Amino acid sequence: MTPQLLSLKKEISRKKLDAILISSVANIIYLTNFSYFSHYEREAFLLVLKNKQYILTDGRYAEAIKENTQNFDLIEISSSLTFEKTLKNLAKKHRIKYLGVEENNLTAKEHKKLSRLLNDLSHFTVADLRMIKNPSEISAIEEACRLGDKTFEHVITLINRGVTERQLGFEIEFFIKKHGADISFPPIVAFGKNSAIPHHKSSDKRLTTKDKIVLLDFGAKVNNYCSDMTRTVFFGKPTRKQKRIYETVLEAQQKAIEYLKSLIINHKSIAAKEVDKVARNYIISKNYNTIPHSVGHGIGLEVHEKPIISPKSKDILKAGMVFSIEPGIYIPGFGGVRIEDLVVLENFSPRLLTHSSKDIIQL
Ligand code: GLY
Ligand code: MN
Repeated sequence: MTPQLLSLKKEISRKKLDAILISSVANIIYLTNFSYFSHYEREAFLLVLKNKQYILTDGRYAEAIKENTQNFDLIEISSSLTFEKTLKNLAKKHRIKYLGVEENNLTAKEHKKLSRLLNDLSHFTVADLRMIKNPSEISAIEEACRLGDKTFEHVITLINRGVTERQLGFEIEFFIKKHGADISFPPIVAFGKNSAIPHHKSSDKRLTTKDKIVLLDFGAKVNNYCSDMTRTVFFGKPTRKQKRIYETVLEAQQKAIEYLKSLIINHKSIAAKEVDKVARNYIISKNYNTIPHSVGHGIGLEVHEKPIISPKSKDILKAGMVFSIEPGIYIPGFGGVRIEDLVVLENFSPRLLTHSSKDIIQL
C-alpha cells in the first residue's frame, strides 16, 4: 500500500468516517498514480474504506486500470450498473453510514444525488495531506522546473519584432511537449501594456520596439507534477521607470526568500501570511499598489494547491512543502513585471527549484 493511501486511511479513522468518496482527478492520481481521466468530465470515483478500496469507472479505462493500478478493486460502471446503484450496493455491503465527500469538487447535482443515497455526508479534503511532498514528488517537480528553465532559455531566442504572444505561447508548449512533458497550464505571454494584466490571455498582438516588456509565465508537467515560473524580459533598453519596477519586484522576492531562510535556520515556525507580508509591504513601501494576487501558492499535482501564501492564509510552512514566490507590480495602461520561482522548504533552508537568471535581460 502506498504511503498516500495509508495516510488517507488514518484520516478516515481520525474523522470517524466509514469511507471516503474521492472525486477530483488530482486526488485520484495522488492515490492511484493513474492519470488517464479527463479533468473536464466526471469519469471516475474512488471509494476508500478502512480496509478496502474501489475504483469506479466505465469500460473505456478498464484494461488500462488493470495494467497500471494496484491495491484498488475495479468496478465497471455501465448503463445497467450505474454509479448510484454501485454506491448503494457498496454502502449496504460495507455498512457505510458516514461518508466523507469532496464538497469543493462535487457539483451541486452530484451532492444532491449522494445525499439521497446516504444521509450522513461530511466534507473531506485531501489538500492537507498533499501539502507535504515526499522525495519522489519533489524530484518530479524539480525535473519539471529544469525543463522550465530550458524552455525559457530557448524561448528568449525567439523574441523578435513581429512575433505574436500566441506564437511564443505555442513555442513554449511545443518545446515542453517535444521534451516528453506536458504544459501545466496554458502559457501566459504578455507584451507591453498587456503585462499589467496578471493573467493576460495571450493574443495575436505582435511585438514592437515600443512594447519593451515581455512577460512569460509558464510551467511543465513531469510525471503528473507541475512547475511554474515567470520571467519578465525587455525587448530593447528598459526605461528608468521599467528598470525601477523590475528591481523593486526582484528585491521584494529576495526579501521574502531571505525571511524564509532566517526563520527556518532558527527553527521558528513560518506563517505563510508573514511571507506574503514581507514581499507585499516592500512593494507598497516603494509607493506601488499592493499586489493584486497572493505572493505564492503551493504546487504539485495541480498548479495551485495548498499552502497558500496570502494575507489571510492560516497555513504554516513546513519542510517538504513546495511553493511559488511571485510578487508583481502592475500599472494599468503601462505594463507590469512579475518574477516567480519555486521553492522547496528543506529542514535547514529553502531551496530554489527554478534557476533561470533574474538579471535584467535586454534582448
Ligand atoms: N503562474 C500562474 C499562476 O500562478 O497563477
Ligand atoms: Mn504561480
